[in-house]
Amino acid sequence: MSEPFFQISKLEAGYGEIRVLWGIDLAVSAGEIVCLIGSNGAGKTTLLRTISGLLPPTAGSIVIDGQELAGADTRRILAGGIAHVPEGRRLFRTMSVKDNLMMGAYLRKRGASVEEDLERVMTMFPRLAERAHQDASTLSGGEQQMCAIGRGIMSRPKLLMIDELSLGLAPRAVELLSESLIEINKTGVAILLVEQDVMTALDLAHRGYVIDRGRISLAATSEQLRQEPAVREAYIGAA
Ligand SMILES: Nc1ncnc2c1ncn2[C@@H]1O[C@H](COP(=O)(O)OP(=O)(O)OP(=O)(O)O)[C@@H](O)[C@H]1O
Ligand SMILES: [Mg+2]
Repeated sequence: MSEPFFQISKLEAGYGEIRVLWGIDLAVSAGEIVCLIGSNGAGKTTLLRTISGLLPPTAGSIVIDGQELAGADTRRILAGGIAHVPEGRRLFRTMSVKDNLMMGAYLRKRGASVEEDLERVMTMFPRLAERAHQDASTLSGGEQQMCAIGRGIMSRPKLLMIDELSLGLAPRAVELLSESLIEINKTGVAILLVEQDVMTALDLAHRGYVIDRGRISLAATSEQLRQEPAVREAYIGAA
């Protein structure tokens, strides 16, 4: 693993009196796809929300390219190169597909490079190009996920975080989305993937972390995690 450009250390966060994350250490290097797996309620969404500034950390640090972002607002974190595709996709339902995509570029100056990126997203997801002027609410689940990912890459992130890629989607849609993530990754965007379907996560990712009740319990390559008895028993359903 090369030197990580993104590093979280001893990160803690929660909701009011309730502490959810307990001293999380996690790093991503350039070019990596890293997955985060764990049971319902383990704190995966809370971690992504803390990284993207939706939830203030109570302790610890979040550094990207040497810049400390813990406690920064969502705008600064987005400008720092972190995009978040949230659980449930959260599109602007009554806005067109194209306008949803353009929202991802809201911090960028309108111009040729934004138009080029829009073209790139439309080429990557032809189904979005065909539906560019439809309201986002009319998209299928898979198309909504394409739109949410497209919106994420419109900010030109260094790190794209995706919360639940496959949730509620048919296997074919998940395959298409996985292929596009590999394509996105090849353009130099690192990916942090939260995924319920552990096999999908480990197939896509180079490395992974297991989070258990707000603590990282394992960190290893995908190959090692696939062999790990604790992972097989808890998440793959095979001892
Ligand atoms: N807004 C909130 N207020 C209070 N507690 C919350 C809130 N959101 C989440 N929690 C609690 O934080 C813990 C972690 O939740 P989180 O949503 O991060 O889990 P998760 O790993 O993403 O789970 P899932 O796999 O179900 O998406 C849970 O105990 C949950 O009840
Ligand atoms: Mg979640």
